[in-house]
Amino acid sequence: MTLGPVSQAIRSRKSMRAFSDRSVPQALVREILELAAFAPSNGNIQPWKVTVLTGKPLATALEKINAGLYTNGEIEQPEYRVYPEKLAEPYRSRRYACGELMYTAFGIPREDKPARIRQVLKNYIFFGAPVGLIITMSKEMDLGQAVDVGIFLQNLMLLATERGLASCPQASWAQWPQRVRDAMKIDSDQKIIVGLALGYADDGHAVNDLEQPRIAADDFVSFDGFD
Ligand SMILES: Cc1cc2nc3c(=O)[nH]c(=O)nc-3n(C[C@H](O)[C@H](O)[C@H](O)COP(=O)(O)O)c2cc1C
Repeated sequence: MTLGPVSQAIRSRKSMRAFSDRSVPQALVREILELAAFAPSNGNIQPWKVTVLTGKPLATALEKINAGLYTNGEIEQPEYRVYPEKLAEPYRSRRYACGELMYTAFGIPREDKPARIRQVLKNYIFFGAPVGLIITMSKEMDLGQAVDVGIFLQNLMLLATERGLASCPQASWAQWPQRVRDAMKIDSDQKIIVGLALGYADDGHAVNDLEQPRIAADDFVSFDGFD
């Protein structure tokens, strides 16, 4: 069966963690954001807000965020739980396998903890992407609106894919809400939900060849009432 454009975008999108320094025009980012905003949201409240940085403002913000990050003993309280405190099976194993595949693609051995940490820290430079987006919603919002934001995020990524752009969604930014808000001049009433690295892929980098597997539909669906 030939895949239509939506199916193709869904099948070819994947998280890219190495970018070229080719810039992305503002008009292109704006077009993607305008289209992504056609995402449905409960009550059509459209709870998402987006801060988009590139060039000098991005470099300045990243410098500020990274100063002393994880080294000055400070930690912040994330404004939502990115994972449950104890991730149960089968999710725990899936998360572990995801990390192992990623570090293998980066050529980092399991026991090389410093190299793993250096890789994790690349989250906080958007993996070198020329454009960084931070998606927020009002602190009053809850799980219901997080669903809306997730749909909006997927729209963004699929539209980016369709335009030949690479992206990586990043909950990492939610670990440092205060630093991110301060450095990126985001209103204090906003909660940091997720970031998105956006740009053109560095095709020469093996980490972008990484294909994360999916479980079969029969492992997550229960059907009833069909012939
Ligand atoms: C909400 C969300 C948050 C994520 N946060 C991170 C992150 O902080 N850092 C990262 O490298 N990948 C992050 N990812 C990417 C996932 O690891 C990736 O989507 C998953 O392994 C499946 O791979 P794929 O996106 O290539 O299909 C995130 C994905 C989602 C949907």
